[in-house]
Amino acid sequence: MRFILPVGLLATTLAIAPVRFDGEKVFRVKPQDETEANIIKDLARTNELDFWYPDDTHHVSANMTVDFRVSEKESQTIQSALDQNKMHYEILIHDLQEEVEKQFDGKEDSSDRHSYEKYHNWEQIVAWTEKMVNKRPEMVSRIKIGSTAEDNPLYVLKIGKEDESRNSIFMDCGIHAREWVSPAFCQWFVYQATKSYGKNKIMTKLLDKMNFYVLPVFNVDGYIWSWTKNRMWRKNRSKNQNSKCIGTDLNRNFNASWDSSPQTSNPCEETYRGHAPESEKETKAVTDFIRGHLKSIKAYITFHSYSQMLLFPYGYTSKLPFNHEDLAKIAKLSTDALSTRYETRYIYGPIQSTIYRTSGSSLDWAFDLGIKHTFAFELRDKGKFGFLLPESQIKPTCKETMLAVKVIAKYILKNTS
Ligand SMILES: *[C@@H]1O[C@H](CO)[C@@H](O)[C@H](O)[C@H]1NC(C)=O
Ligand SMILES: *[C@@H]1O[C@H](CO)[C@@H](O)[C@H](O)[C@H]1NC(C)=O
Ligand SMILES: *[C@@H]1O[C@H](CO)[C@@H](O)[C@H](O)[C@H]1NC(C)=O
Ligand SMILES: [Zn+2]
Repeated sequence: MRFILPVGLLATTLAIAPVRFDGEKVFRVKPQDETEANIIKDLARTNELDFWYPDDTHHVSANMTVDFRVSEKESQTIQSALDQNKMHYEILIHDLQEEVEKQFDGKEDSSDRHSYEKYHNWEQIVAWTEKMVNKRPEMVSRIKIGSTAEDNPLYVLKIGKEDESRNSIFMDCGIHAREWVSPAFCQWFVYQATKSYGKNKIMTKLLDKMNFYVLPVFNVDGYIWSWTKNRMWRKNRSKNQNSKCIGTDLNRNFNASWDSSPQTSNPCEETYRGHAPESEKETKAVTDFIRGHLKSIKAYITFHSYSQMLLFPYGYTSKLPFNHEDLAKIAKLSTDALSTRYETRYIYGPIQSTIYRTSGSSLDWAFDLGIKHTFAFELRDKGKFGFLLPESQIKPTCKETMLAVKVIAKYILKNTS
């Protein structure tokens, strides 16, 4: 039985209430061959599947582990189809709404200290950026590099000495809105770096010699939307001409073989590339900033989730970068260091051969611009919680990732002049 609400009331309800995910499921399917891969693609055509991994139905292929979300209503259809075709699958999440609620399992802190073991909304993150500057003005400064389509500020925290000409590393988090552990890591990094300066030998050495630029939330509008309206939001919130669909995938909007994947040209796709390279205000702000500091930036690191990988160029071609041996060596050292803490296993390699072909990514763009060390982390986990990693895993995730990032930074310090 459905209640018919007066149109006005319905509109207000929609405007306020966040989307719920009661009974929604996340399936993991392993197609054994191309025929089975095509069955998944066909199902995606007739049902609304939200692909978690890979991030787009076009990438589904034989032997790949495919994770997607489906509504309660459609999950029966999907399950019967998988059963009928005798496909290998499991249900990773039985009731997504429950997982959405369960991710907030971090310790409540009654003081108004900023907890690094909780997820924070945009307002709290802005307050946190101010606090970091006020606490360590000699070491932290906040730079507004632009604003978003919805006119929110884009803040980069600079950690290190005033000297702009020193070598530096640029890091960004939260380019995809629903990957919440990513901004949590950027907050952790800034806190730990400033706190351990003068105490931890490596961090002291790093900060004595170089600067870090940290953009804690890249896709601010999308991030806000993921808190207030739809936890599963990925893209930004820009309106697209001649389409009812909203948002651009900022990580397809960079000027790196931008128009080479036809499937990214549909505004309704989660991987929509935008109407032109750098069409998004957010992308433009970041690329302008990086171009403006290109002489000093020696490494670019971007943080995503999930799947536990450390990736380097290229995504848009199977061609290897000229220094791929170097990049592979650093990635090995970095992921080895990461595993020492909790034995978390990461795989590493070029994007194209490790995951699949992607165009317009920030990583490839930064590399082609001349930053010779560019890496993308896909943080925890491998799919048990996916984008809904519980808060109780923020601390271990950040601790191990910190080890990996320090290895990269140490390498840069030693090998660039
Ligand atoms: C899938 O994996 C199996 C076993 O590892 C292998 O024999 C087969 O060739 C693979 N198929 C494809 C299309 O990669
Ligand atoms: C989102 O992306 C679109 C398409 O490129 C862009 O025009 C818009 O400014 C972006 N919106 C936000 C909020 O970033
Ligand atoms: C993108 O790159 C191409 C080729 O390098 C260049 O001609 C073009 O001006 C760039 N576009 C933007 C928006 O930077
Ligand atoms: Zn991502």
